[in-house]
Amino acid sequence: MRPSGKPALIDLPKFLDLRGNLSFVEEETHIPFKIKRVYWIYDVPGGEHRGGHAFKQTDELIIALSGSFDLNLHDGTTEYKYSLNRSYYGVVVPRMIWRMIDNFSTNSLAMIIASTDFSESDYIRNFEEFRKML
Ligand code: TYD
Repeated sequence: MRPSGKPALIDLPKFLDLRGNLSFVEEETHIPFKIKRVYWIYDVPGGEHRGGHAFKQTDELIIALSGSFDLNLHDGTTEYKYSLNRSYYGVVVPRMIWRMIDNFSTNSLAMIIASTDFSESDYIRNFEEFRKML
């Protein structure tokens, strides 16, 4: 599976159980890339936003493990908005998609699974530059 270029909402497996529920994600089964890195965003103060950039080479899966937030995406022509509030949904955000995350609820936890190691040179932090590069 190759990233399609468009964002996609993924319905992850879930095992509902009276003891509590369980979900999981496997590389190349549920997401179209190999996992290189996982990071998470937490303790976001009310009214703050994260992101505000695109990646040249990095594909990601973004999951609201706890709480809720809005994922705002832009591919240069089309805007996409996902309100995530369940830990069994993930959004695949392919490379070269502008992303901004806001409207974090109290105690929300965003987990991001990425296809590359961290590299500042992979970031495009200026929206006009991003549009020119498309
Ligand atoms: P950044 O990606 O800019 O945050 P946002 O979630 O708002 O897009 O990352 C913030 C800082 O954390 C930045 O200085 C680089 C550092 N960082 C790493 O060192 N490794 C990582 O995997 C990530 C995602 C960020």
